[in-house]
Amino acid sequence: MSSQYADNSATTLQREVERRRTFAIISHPDAGKTTLTEKLLMYGGAIRSAGTVKAKKSNQFATSDWMEVEKQRGISVASSVMQFEHQGCVINLLDTPGHQDFSEDTYRVLTAVDAALMVIDAAKGVEAQTIKLLEVCRLRKTPVITFINKMDREVREPLELIDEIEDILKLGCAPITWPVGMGKDFAGVYDLHKAQMLKFMPGVNNLGDESIEVLDGADHPFLRDHYPIAHASFKEELEVVEAAAEPFDHEAFLNGNISPVFFGSAINNFGVRDILQALVEWAPAPRPREAKQRTVYPDAPDFTGIVFKIQANMNPQHRDRIAFLRICSGEYRQGLKVKHVRSAKPIRLDHAITFMAQERAHLSSAYAGDIIGIPNHGKLRIGDVITQGDMIELEGIPHFSPEIFKVARLNDPLRAKQLNKALKELGEEGTIQVFDPLEKTGIVLGAVGQLQFETVAHRLLTEYKIDAAFDRVPVQKALWVKGDDAHMKKFTQANANRLARDAAGALAFMSPNRAVLELTMEKWPDITFQSTREIG
Ligand code: G4P
Repeated sequence: MSSQYADNSATTLQREVERRRTFAIISHPDAGKTTLTEKLLMYGGAIRSAGTVKAKKSNQFATSDWMEVEKQRGISVASSVMQFEHQGCVINLLDTPGHQDFSEDTYRVLTAVDAALMVIDAAKGVEAQTIKLLEVCRLRKTPVITFINKMDREVREPLELIDEIEDILKLGCAPITWPVGMGKDFAGVYDLHKAQMLKFMPGVNNLGDESIEVLDGADHPFLRDHYPIAHASFKEELEVVEAAAEPFDHEAFLNGNISPVFFGSAINNFGVRDILQALVEWAPAPRPREAKQRTVYPDAPDFTGIVFKIQANMNPQHRDRIAFLRICSGEYRQGLKVKHVRSAKPIRLDHAITFMAQERAHLSSAYAGDIIGIPNHGKLRIGDVITQGDMIELEGIPHFSPEIFKVARLNDPLRAKQLNKALKELGEEGTIQVFDPLEKTGIVLGAVGQLQFETVAHRLLTEYKIDAAFDRVPVQKALWVKGDDAHMKKFTQANANRLARDAAGALAFMSPNRAVLELTMEKWPDITFQSTREIG
């Protein structure tokens, strides 16, 4: 961590910041994210038995204080952020929702982490959702650790999987471990750096180092005797890997160009220790963030945080929200007096929630890198900054070009005015993107996941008493457009029927198909078309 404060002898704040690792697991559904999360938490001592995370998923877990919070507020915050300690590091694991929950929230979570752990199902390789999530990582140069899971099954050839990651995801791969065999013949993984073989022992709950058996060298007689075929192909692959694979370069990893790759089997707890080790050793501590006015250093004494997710209360009686805030600098303490930059008003942080997967659920302090939850009544929005210091605008929470477009259809036509107001409010809050066509043909909603429409329908009904359904519209892509005043004026006049303003007033081109988009882009070379827009 480079810092203007690094000259002084390390303060508590600096030590606490330096030992934080904040990351998210990204994967396509079914690759093993939940299983791996659970094993990581068990390793970290945060939970004692397998099944806890799964049970949380299905709402059967009800022992911690968390569930009280959850019950009272009627929302699901418990499994969103998990914190545990490992080898002196405080690890924050942020949940990215699965396929059926896929929404802009999923993307935004990635703006709050310093590293990502990508889980690939070794039988399937790179899948659709992984591609999307990795695009966001690339945008922010997030370092990615790769875990190739399910080696205890008959899967694809490891060399082929590495090629696929490099080709499709455009991410350099530096294998750290390499598998010997697969499925019934899976003997374990060979650590290329340590020249040691870690023996796979299915069913053994290898939670401690002492339960992991290590064989020295790639030619151990045990392998030749027990896994002759797997060992022979492993030796061939090893030659290729040692000759051709990218060496691990820490700097290239930190810039998001190279990913250390591990093979294993999450369900058998195999390879999990290696990942934690990589997180502790290689993943970055919280990094400085750029604000328009200056750089915000994580160990600066003034508290600064940015809201990256809003969890709305599903309880129709209240408009309570929890704003998830990533601390970017300084320390949170109960009763902290801060300023809300957008409204320029003071706020006192009294009841912030800290997320602990351990029993001591309520902490009185949190540091840069940590995530805290702030209950509020709709005052906080995505992208909002709160700070103890000078009024700054932090960069970092983009809007992503939506993929599904719909218009709201009212079941009670008399509520049209209220509908427009409600949609604008939900758009400002970040629940969904709203586009108001210049020709006033009715607000178009844009989302990256179907769930966002369901959330909007539910909230319209419970909070605004508006009964609405959604119909598809002939829009395939919305891109934000920019240019100098003269060009924009001409462009706007010529394309008014395809232009709309988003919640912040930014102009977007709503294209019905690729051909129209390409033609328009060709015709207007002085206009830039952007697929993301920074909130702010
Ligand atoms: P997700 O959160 O990414 O959606 O995946 P999840 O962990 O739920 O895992 C998806 C399925 O893959 C689960 O099986 C899980 O047990 C299995 N799985 C995870 N890791 C491994 C592994 O290393 N090896 C093998 N063979 N399977 C693995 P399921 O049948 O869908 O669920 P369940 O009945 O086992 O709970």
